[in-house]
Amino acid sequence: MPNLHQFDVVVVGAGGAGLMAGLYASRGAKTAVISKLYPTRSHTGAAQGGIGAALGSLEEDHPEWHTYDTVKGSDYLGDQDAIEFMCNEAIDAVLELEHMGLPFDRTPEGRISQRPFGGHTNNETGKPVMRACHAADRTGHMILQTLYQQCLKNKVTFFDEYQVLDLLITDGKAAGVVAVELSTGALHTFHAKAVILATGGHGRIFEVTSNAYAYTGDGAALVLRRGLPLEDMEFFQFHPTGIYKLGILITEGVRGEGGVLINGKGERFMAQYAPKVKDLASRDVISRAIYTEIREGRGVNGQNYVYLDVRPETVNKFASLDSRLRPDGSAYTVTGEEILAKLPDIVDFCRVYLGVDPVTQMMPIQPTAHYTMGGIPTNKYGEVVVGDKSTVFPGLYAAGECACVSVHGANRLGTNSLLDIIVFGKHSGLKAAEYAGKAALPLLPVDAEKEANGQFDSLRNGSGKENTFDIATEMKKTMFDLVGIYRTGKGMEEAIDKVKELKDRYRKVRVTDTGRVFNTELLNAWELGNMLEVSDVTAQCALNRTESRGGHSREDFAKRDDQNWLRHTLAIVTNGKVEVSYKPVTITKYQPKERTY
Ligand code: FUM
Repeated sequence: MPNLHQFDVVVVGAGGAGLMAGLYASRGAKTAVISKLYPTRSHTGAAQGGIGAALGSLEEDHPEWHTYDTVKGSDYLGDQDAIEFMCNEAIDAVLELEHMGLPFDRTPEGRISQRPFGGHTNNETGKPVMRACHAADRTGHMILQTLYQQCLKNKVTFFDEYQVLDLLITDGKAAGVVAVELSTGALHTFHAKAVILATGGHGRIFEVTSNAYAYTGDGAALVLRRGLPLEDMEFFQFHPTGIYKLGILITEGVRGEGGVLINGKGERFMAQYAPKVKDLASRDVISRAIYTEIREGRGVNGQNYVYLDVRPETVNKFASLDSRLRPDGSAYTVTGEEILAKLPDIVDFCRVYLGVDPVTQMMPIQPTAHYTMGGIPTNKYGEVVVGDKSTVFPGLYAAGECACVSVHGANRLGTNSLLDIIVFGKHSGLKAAEYAGKAALPLLPVDAEKEANGQFDSLRNGSGKENTFDIATEMKKTMFDLVGIYRTGKGMEEAIDKVKELKDRYRKVRVTDTGRVFNTELLNAWELGNMLEVSDVTAQCALNRTESRGGHSREDFAKRDDQNWLRHTLAIVTNGKVEVSYKPVTITKYQPKERTY
């Protein structure tokens, strides 16, 4: 085999979770990080508003409050032991980033600056609490740069622009991966004792999304093809504020700084939906509120959008009406200069993409497909688990958005994704290195590259005339319209039929570029196969869950049903058919109750 590499641990993906896993694994084991992108182009760079930790820089806060808010935010589907573990580790995680050199914004006293975010509250008053630690509105970008520098300093081995095509398994244990080197088209086999998947989510299955082009569900599809399960795939988060039609994220930090949502009649409508915290309710609640406003004819100019308004005069007016105070007890007010300093990227994005200046004009926004709550089931150490007893699958780990620990349950709170990648990236790296220290190198499967070769060959040599662009466009529209914020049984059945038709047509795709060097047409076609697989599982799990919970909102089953559905879904694909089973939710301190904000 010409391109054979041996490592103790291979990490697939170089976003925040992959870099953190690589950094920690490399301290105890020979580690490679393989990424389809140059690492600092990873999607973590798009996370804007902050990382959650109860530092209490500016006001009282506690990890227990963070834990409770996350359990409540998850609509009680999150596993409470894992949530408590993450929230207890949050403060050290942020301080570790600070010590690595991450340039957080500062309070006048020099503490890490914090701002309010949706669903994060003072558990005694129910009011929003400042828990999001931020570096302007570039927090994810700064995390990515900081971790990449640390990895380089610690001599982690990188394979940049290698697309992993297959997961190798021998005798029920992970044995490595097969990847294509994008610059040459050559296949490479990475033979390893442990594999950590940190491949991100799959928001690109939807028409309007904040997700990067790379977010095509590769890790989820690899796992499905190897007969392993995915958990809670019906839960996908829509972020309330994406740029109208483009979906580009407008951070919740805008509302944290005092921005408000305004409908076509000029009303601040969130007070009706979440009287206590208004524009800082959890994302599922706000996204539904925006859709309801639009559906009931209160969109702007009869269109599918509302406004996000962070003009100083608006912020100051509503802060005064809400009696919002600064930590020193003075009235909360902002100036245009402060908006620019705290939200520089948002101001830039709106000027560039919309020709709108948020300091003087309102921003047209709509909910945008943002975050994959479901994914590859793991425990809190990043070990992949299977079955209703959560049995560890030896040598296989997952962290970040491709994983389902489950700390986000049915709805993730803003800032908890950056926390998730740091905490579980670290633990998966530690655990994988520990495992590799004890385990023998598994046998390399005979014909290790056969499956990867087969997948590419069928796209290169297909007989049909189908076009990947058309199939992708139809898939995205179907998923957005029928498996989006509001769902019905009828709509989802239609979506499942459509995805089946698209999967059939996909078998007739033939790429026109037969070259080997940076063949992005071939790569996009391969990624489309992943997205179709993931769309199918998402739609089927959503149809199966006959209740509404968090981001899964059914008009035909409008209520949460703890009697029947306080359980996680597990989905596998056998002979092309999605099969669903269940496992229990871990409840420790907090019994489910009705959510109000
Ligand atoms: O709104 C935001 O800045 C997004 C953050 C997140 O998804 O956690």
